[in-house]
Amino acid sequence: MRVIVCDTYEEMSKEAAKIMAAQVHLKPNCVLGLATGSTPVGAYNELVAMYKNGEIDFKDVTTFNLDEYYPIKRNNDQSYYYFMHDNLFNHINIPEERIHVLNGEVADPEKECADYDKHIVEHGGIDLQLLGIGRNGHIAFNEPDENLVAATHVTGLTEDTIDANARFFDDIKDVPTKSLTMGMAPIMKARKILILINGKGKHAALSKLLSGEISTSCPATMLNMHNDVVVICDKEAYNG
Ligand code: GLP
Repeated sequence: MRVIVCDTYEEMSKEAAKIMAAQVHLKPNCVLGLATGSTPVGAYNELVAMYKNGEIDFKDVTTFNLDEYYPIKRNNDQSYYYFMHDNLFNHINIPEERIHVLNGEVADPEKECADYDKHIVEHGGIDLQLLGIGRNGHIAFNEPDENLVAATHVTGLTEDTIDANARFFDDIKDVPTKSLTMGMAPIMKARKILILINGKGKHAALSKLLSGEISTSCPATMLNMHNDVVVICDKEAYNG
């Protein structure tokens, strides 16, 4: 695991965008795994700026997002589908048919999850997976638990995550209590993983990740078993 400690959030975002742009440069038809949450917004802004400067071309790139609330309408401004379009897809030249976000509107969520895993395999797997981390150590919506689930699946959100995500909703009661999430397997099968961690609130989760111990009580620690992980964090998350 390579760890890059940056002075600021802006620096962390620039580092992340550089690595993602290098991936697209190296393999223009690559498959990117993308994340939501406030953490990657700076990196997405950098990528949009690079695209506008003619430094990066997304026309052959395919994306798979990590997760989505369930149930939620795609046009709800708190859906991850909406978030990704608003922060990235609407500002770059990726064709809509190459964008994959789990659909929180479907009547059969189990089928949606099974189909998603099939599509990832059909596209040859994920070349570069971008991750954030929950303050309780969750990745995507794989929450701390006695057992973790390998396949993409429907899951409940913990109180801590509902509480953390309430800041985006008018009322905590509006936060969906379920989600569709990539399981641990498609994440761990990504050829390269880039995890961004910033702010004091993430210090405990980052410390557990860097401790080298593996526990389902902190799902991110599973990344210690992957052979190509880059952690980019800021000083606040690193030092606490
Ligand atoms: C959310 C998402 C995760 C994200 C995490 C951290 O609930 N499901 O993919 O990494 O929580 O979010 P933030 O970056 O806003 O702290």
